Amino acid sequence: MHVLLLNGPNLNLLGQRETGIYGHSSLADIEAALSREAEQESVQLDCFQSNFEGALVDRIHRAMGRCDGILINAGAYTHTSIAIRDALAGVAIPYVELHLSNTHAREKFRHHSFLAERAVGVICGFGPASYSLALKGLLSYLRPNA
Ligand code: DQA
Repeated sequence: MHVLLLNGPNLNLLGQRETGIYGHSSLADIEAALSREAEQESVQLDCFQSNFEGALVDRIHRAMGRCDGILINAGAYTHTSIAIRDALAGVAIPYVELHLSNTHAREKFRHHSFLAERAVGVICGFGPASYSLALKGLLSYLRPNA
């Protein structure tokens, strides 16, 4: 089974950026821990981060027919990007939306997500553990009888 982990803008700065909100783990730390967890579940995890909306759209397109599920932290594009929503709908790959912070406890503009409506589920507010919880949720959806 193949799962794609997508991270959007500014998430390359994790560990240095607003650590009071996002914590001290770097994206490399998070990707390494999640890859280990995925391996234990016999899942091949591909990781991709970009600060560019079009690059994220292109990466979603490349997953079509090759990937069983997507984990996406689209960062600020969560709240703005119809293009990413349409790309996810277009490839018809089940996805889980995730966030480190509880976006509902923050500024009003973070309360709306263009991706949530079509997601299998949404995980937010657990810091780096959101990634692990999102993988568990996605796998329980993809392997309901496991
Ligand atoms: C975030 C929440 C977004 O609102 C914000 O723009 C981010 C990170 C999170 O993981 O908590 O960049 O997606």
